[in-house]
Amino acid sequence: MVDKIKVENLSCYYNKKCVLEVPYINVVQNEILSIIGPANSGKTTFLRTLNRMNDLDITYSRKGEVYLDGKNIFDMNMENLRKRVGMLFAMPIPLPMSIYENIVYAPKHLGLVTRKSDQDVIVEQALKGASLWNEIKDRLNTSAMKMSGGQQQRLCIARILAINPEVILFDEPCSGLDPISTAKVEESMIELKQKYTIILVTNNVKQASRVGDRTAFFLMGKLVEIDKTDKLFVTPQKKETEDYITGRFG
Ligand SMILES: Nc1ncnc2c1ncn2[C@@H]1O[C@H](COP(=O)(O)OP(=O)(O)OP(=O)(O)O)[C@@H](O)[C@H]1O
Ligand SMILES: [Mg+2]
Repeated sequence: MVDKIKVENLSCYYNKKCVLEVPYINVVQNEILSIIGPANSGKTTFLRTLNRMNDLDITYSRKGEVYLDGKNIFDMNMENLRKRVGMLFAMPIPLPMSIYENIVYAPKHLGLVTRKSDQDVIVEQALKGASLWNEIKDRLNTSAMKMSGGQQQRLCIARILAINPEVILFDEPCSGLDPISTAKVEESMIELKQKYTIILVTNNVKQASRVGDRTAFFLMGKLVEIDKTDKLFVTPQKKETEDYITGRFG
């Protein structure tokens, strides 16, 4: 088992106030690591640190290090890092253009493809990866805005796959989706871990238990516990974890 990501002695601050402390977390290659925890526990801050999205926020600062394949991400070129570590937000919105153009937008912008035949390949592969190809292959040139919410969410997954990342960060990808759409997104995540390393932030404890190989519990800016998902849900080591997963929290 190879560590894709390693986080060491991480502390994150907004306006110099510490909102997250993670002494150590590793993410194993090709696993799904679920992160659960109530609002304001630092889950999104954690993800935004891993692809340096928070570098754009001048109120944000950090101590500690994050390694991707053993290399410090804070020494990397930001554009390269973002290509390798893609992020899907809660309720992402497609661009107001066709399904096809949505997918090739980033690869074109990044100069990864020019030829139409190469673009066709990327579109098909990305849509297959996001378990969407069969549903929409006959209407690639229609507006993405006409898709259902669940399809739009999977289209946004396809857009990430189109830049061929190594790690995908999902921030509550199913909030606002119905159970059937949620199940489809979960299926595609399980499919995707064969090729990618995935971190899934979810406020749905059941979702974490369904798809996570391991699960981490964050509470008020602290990593309380991390373990194999089965173990964390059946025999949690900390009382706070038990209270949260049994719904007794708060
Ligand atoms: N841009 C920001 N500026 C100032 N404070 C922020 C900013 N973003 C987050 N915070 C604060 O940092 C803490 C952690 O927030 P974060 O968004 O990481 O939590 P979360 O676990 O993702 O919560 P939720 O479940 O509501 O999405 C919170 O107290 C929040 O108010
Ligand atoms: Mg959040």
